[in-house]
Amino acid sequence: MYDRKVRKSRKMYHEIDLDKIDINATPPTEEPARQYYFMAKARQYVKEETLRIGRPLAAMVKTFGCQMNARDSEKLRGILEIIGYQQSESEEADFVIYNTCTVRENANNKVYGRLGYLNNWKKQNPHTRIALCGCMMQETAVVDKLRTSYRFVDLIFGTHNIYKFAELVTAVFENQGMVIDIWEDTDRIVEELPVERKYSFKSGVNIMFGCNNFCSYCIVPYVRGRERSRSPQDILKEIRRLSRDGVSEVMLLGQNVNSYGKNLEEPMSFARLLAEVEQIEGIRRIRFMTSHPKDLSQELIDVMAASGKICRHLHLPLQSGSSRILKEMNRRYTKEQYLALVERIRRAIPDIAITTDIIVGFPGETEEDFEETMDVVRRVRYDSAFTFIYSKRTGTPAAVMENQVPEAVIKERFDRLLGEVQQIASQKAEGLTGQVQEILVEEVNHQDASLVTGRLSNNSVVHIPGDASMIGTYVKVELVECRGFYYYGKAV
Ligand code: SAH
Ligand code: SF4
Ligand code: F3S
Repeated sequence: MYDRKVRKSRKMYHEIDLDKIDINATPPTEEPARQYYFMAKARQYVKEETLRIGRPLAAMVKTFGCQMNARDSEKLRGILEIIGYQQSESEEADFVIYNTCTVRENANNKVYGRLGYLNNWKKQNPHTRIALCGCMMQETAVVDKLRTSYRFVDLIFGTHNIYKFAELVTAVFENQGMVIDIWEDTDRIVEELPVERKYSFKSGVNIMFGCNNFCSYCIVPYVRGRERSRSPQDILKEIRRLSRDGVSEVMLLGQNVNSYGKNLEEPMSFARLLAEVEQIEGIRRIRFMTSHPKDLSQELIDVMAASGKICRHLHLPLQSGSSRILKEMNRRYTKEQYLALVERIRRAIPDIAITTDIIVGFPGETEEDFEETMDVVRRVRYDSAFTFIYSKRTGTPAAVMENQVPEAVIKERFDRLLGEVQQIASQKAEGLTGQVQEILVEEVNHQDASLVTGRLSNNSVVHIPGDASMIGTYVKVELVECRGFYYYGKAV
């Protein structure tokens, strides 16, 4: 019925023995040796604090935002674990880290809201340490506000120096008051640091960092810096290691994976990288995020069509169906080009699920523009779509555009769009009922422990009767019943 044994290990340590490091020597200057030195040092401080408090210390990393941040959080957890913290699911921990997102205003508000709660927790438990990192910290106004009004925060760092976490934690132990370390940008990529993965059988893999597209509404290029691709050798080495460690599904991560490799010393296309990943033994499923339509090549479509491992799912953000708005957004494709691309993809890979992101209420969006978006939605018939209300991000070109759309108008359009998107998505899902397909079992169902939950190649969720021993295995299932966006099935 299923054919892959679960392996317990989720860790990826790089055979370095912290006990052999002399923490009284001067720190090495080269990376990652320097960080291993600070891990050894931080571990000593954690040990001392553990003795003082009389119980093991717990750390909690809370992630806001996208897959990129989720992967960064795994890197933070890897370091926390190696320096002696136990992982906690609760924010009532000895060390609380918020890895923040700033893509929309409400992401920021959530963080400020939680900080009020953390302040109270720390008043009752003064030894608690609080760190903030991630995209929001790359905004000067945010850091200024924290510096003046949130003095109880111990550590603030950004997206470019996350690899220095061990060094920064050491600084927190050695300093009174706030430690702040924010870099404007970086051209370095530090490899070979510990990672604590959430799942034993699947993993995200960064293939590139940053973004050069500067879509006019988007803050990501300002907070994640310029586009940098990792070398294919490093990526493949990491995936081989993951495979040996029990991982069979990888998700290649970047803000615009289709421009992967363009700036490498020896340029390499994303399609070629995929073809190389395909060769790695033990990897059964390959996913990637996110594809920018302007850079999606015929070569990629061909590689996907020929592949037995690349999942039948493509996330292809539309943002708007109006060519005029797309131009204002600096997306560099038109409605017609987008539709033609979808058609080419569907012709080559008929069973592919296509999902998207759409923004409603970009400055100057008229009813006609919005109808163009609805038209694309009806023509493409997305398997699912994330719909967002436009959020003004200070510092982006769109923030100072005239004709910001009134809230009530946006809300009304948003509801119409959501209704259409959901209706189409459920019709599409219904269409697969009765089919037999394979799922990768991911977890025991949260509501009903007699069920396990897995995903199809096209990323849809399926619940089947089962137990924890099936986690990480591939099971052939019949999709018995469709419930809108997910299925109930049974193993066959
Ligand atoms: N790099 C990815 C997207 C990253 S952000 C891409 O280009 O597709 C994820 C999504 O957030 C975007 O696709 C967009 O739909 C949405 N988004 C980004 N900035 C936004 C803003 N200012 N207001 C509302 N939604 C936004
Ligand atoms: Fe933002 Fe555009 Fe870059 Fe995506 S491609 S991260 S939407 S600027
Ligand atoms: Fe948010 Fe940063 Fe991702 S702004 S969406 S966490 S890249």
